[in-house]
Amino acid sequence: MKVASNKLSDIYKYYLTNLLRVYSDNEGAILLNRLIAFFAEIDSYKIPQMLDDVRVSESQLLKIHFGVKDLLKHKPLEYILEEVEFYEMKFKVNQNVLIPRPETEELVDLIWKNSSSSPAKPKLFDIGSGSGCIAICLSKLLNADTYAVDCSKEAIKIAKQNATTNCAEVKFIETDFLTVANWKYLPKKIDIIVSNPPYVRKSEKLLMKPNVLDYEPEKAIFVDDENPLIFYKAIADFAFKNLSEKGKIYLEINEFLAVETAEVFKSLYPKVKLINDLNGKKRFLLVEK
Ligand SMILES: C[S@@+](CC[C@H](N)C(=O)[O-])C[C@H]1O[C@@H](n2cnc3c(N)ncnc32)[C@H](O)[C@@H]1O
Repeated sequence: MKVASNKLSDIYKYYLTNLLRVYSDNEGAILLNRLIAFFAEIDSYKIPQMLDDVRVSESQLLKIHFGVKDLLKHKPLEYILEEVEFYEMKFKVNQNVLIPRPETEELVDLIWKNSSSSPAKPKLFDIGSGSGCIAICLSKLLNADTYAVDCSKEAIKIAKQNATTNCAEVKFIETDFLTVANWKYLPKKIDIIVSNPPYVRKSEKLLMKPNVLDYEPEKAIFVDDENPLIFYKAIADFAFKNLSEKGKIYLEINEFLAVETAEVFKSLYPKVKLINDLNGKKRFLLVEK
């Protein structure tokens, strides 16, 4: 380490120069600001004014130092901090779970805003729960009897921890949803099915950055190009048998396969609606019986 002192101003100057080798000015500054704020336990908006006054401890400096080293290797900040904010709640994350995305917050918001027609305590089922972000938020927002499935043992472990820290009650089930024989372990007569399943085709890897490709779980993101709608086809069949009379399905989808994804449901359900995200991309599908 060649930082001139443990004063924030010296730390900031030294590590920003390092980060600008890999990141743009703006991105480097934002990442460093959040890293320092987290490890030095300072509100990030206060950092610019406090640069000259505050000194960090030796252990805090070490954490910042190794955090910057990881950032230089493109490790996502959320995995370095092992924490992410989603729908104003804190979630633990590590490399076994997808980092929850802002689009998925929009999905939660959509369900919350459409919930006036739901029963007082709807039965809700989240397919591919990862960190548990969707299931945990909705169990609280809708007072829902909530179930969630994921095939990853490690993801289920993190999701259960997140449910405990956020005081939510969710029944997590570890099983492979794509194996129809496992459906007997899953809930029936469901009022709301929600899913953000793996939907990125392997051929789309070319468009993606190393922070995703090198660190996020492959199984959470990618599907084979030969059958990219595999999860939606399974969800359509499962829901046909297990949705309550007035049940609804809310899905996050691949913007490049929006029309094809809607087609999967149109043969089975009368109401199928594509919904844009805040960036104007066809990102969500609402299906009703
Ligand atoms: C795109 S991630 C979504 C995670 C979380 N719901 C979110 O929105 O941040 C998809 C999740 O599906 C899980 N998954 C992949 N294949 C599965 C399968 N066959 N059965 C059950 N879950 C599966 C992955 O482990 C991953 O957690």
